[in-house]
Amino acid sequence: MDDPALDPATVPWWERGVIYQIYPRSFQDSDGDAVGDLGGIEQRLDYLAELGIDAIWLSPIFPSPMADFGYDVADYIGIDPLFGTIEDFDKLLAAAHERGLKLILDFVPNHSSDQHPWFLESRSSRDNPKRDWYIWRDAGPDGGPPNNWISDFGGSAWEWDEATGQYYLHAFLKEQPDLNWRNPEVRAAMLDVLRFWFDRGVDGFRIDVLWHCIKAEGLPDNPVNPDYRPEMGEKLKVLQTHSTHQPEIHDLAADFRALADRYGERLLVGEIVLPLHELMAYYGRDRPGVHLPFNFQLVEAPWNAAYLRAMIADYEAALPPGGWPNWVMASHDYPRIAAKLGEAQARVAAMLLLTLRGTPTLYQGDELGIGKVEIPPGRVRDPKELREPGIGLGRDPSRTPMAWDSAPNGGFSTGQPWLPLHDDWPTRNVSTQEDDPGSMLSLYRRLLRLRRAEPALSIGSIQLDQGSEHVLAYRRRYGGAQLQILLNLSGTERQWPQGAQSGAVLMSTLGSQPAEGWLRPDEGLILRVAGS
Ligand code: NOJ
Repeated sequence: MDDPALDPATVPWWERGVIYQIYPRSFQDSDGDAVGDLGGIEQRLDYLAELGIDAIWLSPIFPSPMADFGYDVADYIGIDPLFGTIEDFDKLLAAAHERGLKLILDFVPNHSSDQHPWFLESRSSRDNPKRDWYIWRDAGPDGGPPNNWISDFGGSAWEWDEATGQYYLHAFLKEQPDLNWRNPEVRAAMLDVLRFWFDRGVDGFRIDVLWHCIKAEGLPDNPVNPDYRPEMGEKLKVLQTHSTHQPEIHDLAADFRALADRYGERLLVGEIVLPLHELMAYYGRDRPGVHLPFNFQLVEAPWNAAYLRAMIADYEAALPPGGWPNWVMASHDYPRIAAKLGEAQARVAAMLLLTLRGTPTLYQGDELGIGKVEIPPGRVRDPKELREPGIGLGRDPSRTPMAWDSAPNGGFSTGQPWLPLHDDWPTRNVSTQEDDPGSMLSLYRRLLRLRRAEPALSIGSIQLDQGSEHVLAYRRRYGGAQLQILLNLSGTERQWPQGAQSGAVLMSTLGSQPAEGWLRPDEGLILRVAGS
């Protein structure tokens, strides 16, 4: 159904827009130290504007010992010298805004670095005023950790502190102690952090592991996972029933939201990995929560039409009134799209991601179709892979540097990059793809242009059609316009499914003109339904 309340001129930017995630270490280096930086991002803003995205989300750029590459924050209101200075940040923000691009930062509230002055104070003595800013407990009756919680990176989630004779909690590395969000002083200090950046003009935040922030009172043992298998990674030995997703989390999200709303149209995206109905609660209950609880379902979805159709239908049906959908298919934590699906289907996936109803988040480098990358053993950097090697948990393959042109290191850096580039960078880079109308980059640009030009794609309604075994089919409508999307998820020619209507082809993932009634192998089509 059309929603007459949706007017492209008045819907918030983040509903009609497309978010692009930058992993700053790997985007563009401007000073030859082999790690990307803010100056480098500024140099590439024209590329992003030309690509056709609306907002940039930067993974953390704050001072950090980099144990988890910035997700261990040692100062929430500064910039790590590796990335630049606060002046560089202000310059970048102004330059982004000049080009009509929004800038979103990564807020990491669940844990700080163990080098954050708050934690240094907290661990300095049991009676330090900041002791209770983190989660300290005596040893269990057997002298071991206070409960059975397991770190997401493997091993106990508790670290013994010899000097003060207690354990502290860390859901991730021991260098990332969890903050105690039940302490009002922590809440006040962190809201000040958000104010600091909002006052500087940032357009929003992606909130790291939001569902982790509050733990059950009393910290009871988590239930043992009956389905655990070692290849899943140790984290899944237990179910995170008591260590995550507590009812009080929604008050916290609502407080963040209330603050953001005071600044006008600012966006809060929550990183939440939970089953559908639990995820929906993060839109808010009695008070509004985050605008977009990240929807990661496409990351692991089996690539078949029946599954995707049901998944999209269930998600749409579960949305609360007024809840705006969103879709994520890859990130610095998950495999690249082309690594998972192969290049031909990655093109179909791009069309899916950019034609579904809801805000898409793109991940840097997917627009080049970067595929599988082997990280030589000596060059592994991801702490997750280093702690639990060889079971496919490593995130380095998705974090390799962008390739811009045929200069050494793909133009990413004059120094030896901190991670290797993808092997085929000499041909798979921005410069070669820009000039090739058949490239992945050209496909993304065309899709983004079409999405911007057609309100049916950015804010229109969605209707899932019956499709067929290998063809996912749906329509987007806005006003009188009706666009039909037909996606062939197989490498074989397929007939249009029953009910598909003829119309003018607005785009094919394969470029050249398709034959009426047929989808070529790995083809996605967008048609304007005749008469609409
Ligand atoms: C989620 C982030 O995306 C990931 O990269 C990080 O390791 C954990 N949160 C811990 O902050």
